[in-house]
Amino acid sequence: MAYDNILVEIEGAIAVVTVNRPRALNALNRQTIDELVDAFEAIAGQHDIRAAIVTGAGEKAFVAGADIAEMAKMASDEASAFAARGHDLGATLGELPQPVIAAVNGYALGGGTELALACDFVYASDNAKFGQPEVNLGVIPGFGGTQRFARRCGGAIAMELITTGETIGAQEALRIGLVNKVFPLAELLPAARAAALKIAQKGPIAIAAAKRAVRAADEMALSDGLQFEIKCFASLFDTEDQKEGMAAFLGKRAANFTGR
Ligand code: CAA
Repeated sequence: MAYDNILVEIEGAIAVVTVNRPRALNALNRQTIDELVDAFEAIAGQHDIRAAIVTGAGEKAFVAGADIAEMAKMASDEASAFAARGHDLGATLGELPQPVIAAVNGYALGGGTELALACDFVYASDNAKFGQPEVNLGVIPGFGGTQRFARRCGGAIAMELITTGETIGAQEALRIGLVNKVFPLAELLPAARAAALKIAQKGPIAIAAAKRAVRAADEMALSDGLQFEIKCFASLFDTEDQKEGMAAFLGKRAANFTGR
């Protein structure tokens, strides 16, 4: 698939996916969502890619939301299909074996905050702005925000931001746990790349298991999640990477993980 609205750059073991509609502040229309789903499905099958970064083109916006011009004309059945496609993107990011870092470089409103929430963790520039302003448009978040915001930051924080439509800055996003770290804009992508490279140096089977197990906390009761953790932990003892990792530690040398 050729992409009009996103850029996909493979830098060794890292994929950098950039939403590239700067004239609409990188708003997510149907085509852009389809392109993102397609790109991440392709990345899922590329075992030499060990981590991914999602960011927005330009210095002003990560993603300023779902495309309001497109949504303005939608009937309810079209809105349902549009929201479902946004959820497909969230599911694709969740099921991807590689961790995905959101590098939020400006406005991340509505679908932009939801895209960040669907990633595995979030780095932000100090000019980033987050929020779920959908109530200002007579609607509510439709790309997973009501559920993921509440799970990530707690129900009362999600309720406040979703019902007031208030926009918050990077430091407040850091305080409420939406964002992991904040950087000056010029340092954001280098920091995201450094984190992605750190992940890329580990064994990919362990990284995929870590992602599955941590994400299970959003889906499972604690007792089920703990059982799932045991299953994931034990399964890694059937891999060469576990033998290599532990032998390397005991031999006081660096591990050479092969993904087997
Ligand atoms: N959809 C479509 N176009 C958008 C857009 C969006 N979400 N956000 C910005 N744009 C467009 C503007 O229409 C404008 O286009 P023109 O130049 O052709 O007029 C261009 O991007 C630049 O935007 P502004 O002139 O508004 O820039 P600004 O600096 O004055 O303001 C902003 C920036 C505060 C982010 C403002 O653009 C804004 O409020 N955008 C909308 C944010 C929003 O409400 N997002 C939620 C969308 S609903 C949603 O996401 C639903 C869901 O969960 C599925």
